[in-house]
Amino acid sequence: MRNIPQHIGFIMDGNGRWAKARFLPRTAGHLAGLKALKKVILGCINEGVRYATLYCFSTENWRRPQDEVNYLMGLFSEKIMGEFPFYEKNGIRILTLGDISALPEDARKSLEEVSEATKNFDRISVQLAINYGGQAEICQAVNAAIKEGIREISPEIIRAHFQNPDVPPVDLIVRSAGEFRISNFLLFDSAYAEFVFCDKLWPDWGEKDVSDVIDTYNTRVRRFGGVVQ
Ligand code: FPP
Repeated sequence: MRNIPQHIGFIMDGNGRWAKARFLPRTAGHLAGLKALKKVILGCINEGVRYATLYCFSTENWRRPQDEVNYLMGLFSEKIMGEFPFYEKNGIRILTLGDISALPEDARKSLEEVSEATKNFDRISVQLAINYGGQAEICQAVNAAIKEGIREISPEIIRAHFQNPDVPPVDLIVRSAGEFRISNFLLFDSAYAEFVFCDKLWPDWGEKDVSDVIDTYNTRVRRFGGVVQ
């Protein structure tokens, strides 16, 4: 029987290289990356994956050229809510992960609006990781616990203070474009995740690639620190 990961995390790398290979600006790569992202979400839905987390903008991505940062912020403010019919048709709940309070106001408002508008859709929950960093996420959870007067931290307490505590730990992390790094993504929850690295650049991804990474996931034996009987 094929085992379907409950939660997949995607590090969407290679937009810039995809654009460069076509003599296009890097921003064109991000727009193509957004189209790929929709296909990948459909692929997840078809496979029965219930949660997906997409690394859209890290706490370190502010260091990119200003016009590229502005372009990505523009995508968040202008494109996200425009896809509402797609979320409605396919039962997609959008959640944000990361500190969106630091985003330009129109981007922040659009993300808040889409989270509210899709909160009852229940085929798949998609976390958009924006201004997200795994180290900052752990610190935020610990600080929230301290504020409540908790004096001793445990893994359970950290998880309970995450932004979306109902989202289960990630089972599979996929990175496109041939890099072998975690890049500060889901550091806490990836403790027992499987990793799949693919050469294909993100804008070339589609539904079939989701089936392929799930096939690879099915070749792995997950032991969670124990032994398989
Ligand atoms: C990494 O490719 C990609 C990003 C930093 C951005 C990912 C964003 C998207 C796919 C768009 C998401 C948009 C919405 C509205 C959710 P890179 O630029 O680092 O590629 P390179 O390594 O080839 O330069």
